[in-house]
Amino acid sequence: MNMAVSFEKTISEVDRLIIEQAHELSDKLKQHRLEMFPPKAQKGLREFHLAEVARFLGVTSGYLRNLSLEGKGPLPQVTASGRRSYTAGQMEEMRVFLEQNARAGTRYIQRRRDSEHLQVIAVVNFKGGSGKTTSAAHLAQHLALTGHRVLAVDLDPQASLSAIHGVQPEFDVGDNETLYGAIRYDEHRRPLSDIIRKTNFPNLDLVPGNLELMEFEHDTPRILAQGNAGEHGRIFFARLDEALASVADDYDVVVIDCPPQLGFLTMSAICGATAVLITVHPQMLDVMSMCQFLQMLGEVLNTLKGAGGDMRLDWLRYLVTRYDPQDGPQTQMVAFMRSMFKNHVLTNPMVRSVAISDAAMTNQTLYEVERSAFIRSTYDRAMESMDAVNNEIATLIHRTWGRK
Ligand SMILES: Nc1ncnc2c1ncn2[C@@H]1O[C@H](COP(=O)(O)OP(=O)(O)O)[C@@H](O)[C@H]1O
Ligand SMILES: [Mg+2]
Repeated sequence: MNMAVSFEKTISEVDRLIIEQAHELSDKLKQHRLEMFPPKAQKGLREFHLAEVARFLGVTSGYLRNLSLEGKGPLPQVTASGRRSYTAGQMEEMRVFLEQNARAGTRYIQRRRDSEHLQVIAVVNFKGGSGKTTSAAHLAQHLALTGHRVLAVDLDPQASLSAIHGVQPEFDVGDNETLYGAIRYDEHRRPLSDIIRKTNFPNLDLVPGNLELMEFEHDTPRILAQGNAGEHGRIFFARLDEALASVADDYDVVVIDCPPQLGFLTMSAICGATAVLITVHPQMLDVMSMCQFLQMLGEVLNTLKGAGGDMRLDWLRYLVTRYDPQDGPQTQMVAFMRSMFKNHVLTNPMVRSVAISDAAMTNQTLYEVERSAFIRSTYDRAMESMDAVNNEIATLIHRTWGRK
């Protein structure tokens, strides 16, 4: 008896202590952040060198340099040593300029037209650390830099994708400001268009995440147990799809960074997706865990189909992430995956690079950091791999649209 009482007391003391410490930490972090970043400071974006701009626009550097020499299109900043650079905004102006002066059949603006449907790409795997967020962020930014209108959706309560875009989940995202606000079951549900934010990249908008997203994992089983979809709308797996449909006209591609679990959020993303990208680090434990993920996914999809969920995927691909070609076992694992999954494994792996992990330490991507901050060959190898992956995915998207 006595023991039970004192045990309960200890528990309540512990949880009070934890809550107190959480508050204290939160206050200190806010203070620290205020000192580091003045309020309302928007994340900026560096200028892009002429060669990069040429790559993103799909023209040669020589052609772009000539335009600048002839005074055509937006004029770049030129350093004393003659290096030319453009802001991301100027790159967009140049894209419009090129499109207006293009020969018939050549496209610089990649927006979808007519029969081309919105592509919704869910980046999934329930293994944390498989490279979901890194892949999603670079894909979304690359698509934006190459002239697509992109919406990035952070569906992970840990919200790393939001942090990368300068939105701190604990400080900058209030109640009802995540996707949860647009898919919740009660009367507080609101239009997704009210939740979407601009990012530091032209063409790229964000639906931020934070812990609030967990509510959906709690609400959904309750609603399902009640045996209806709730008074305010559709059954769970159609809600994300419906929210995206409400903003579809504004975008060409949606990239969803999923949480590291196969819960209701991930299932909703997969049901709303037109394409699935499964990230996998080529190591035994990771591949075994992916195998479990696939089994669960198969079962879940079967159940959903029975419940009237319709899944029509244009494509599904495995992306090898954090790949070290010097590592024998990894190389064998990749060969093993290719022999099994054939052309479902993207040809280009995302190589492991300190340029990527160092950039991540300051919540940045390769597209944001300066090449001069790294050993050139390191940066170039990482960028080459990243672009190859993203171009391969862009080709899949364009092919889905029926483009050559
Ligand atoms: N290609 C890469 N090279 C080096 N580090 C990487 C690479 N991809 C991801 N990382 C690092 O690995 C960690 C996990 O990646 P992340 O994308 O956050 O995985 P997930 O979202 O699946 O949990 C992060 O610290 C990230 O910076
Ligand atoms: Mg993540």
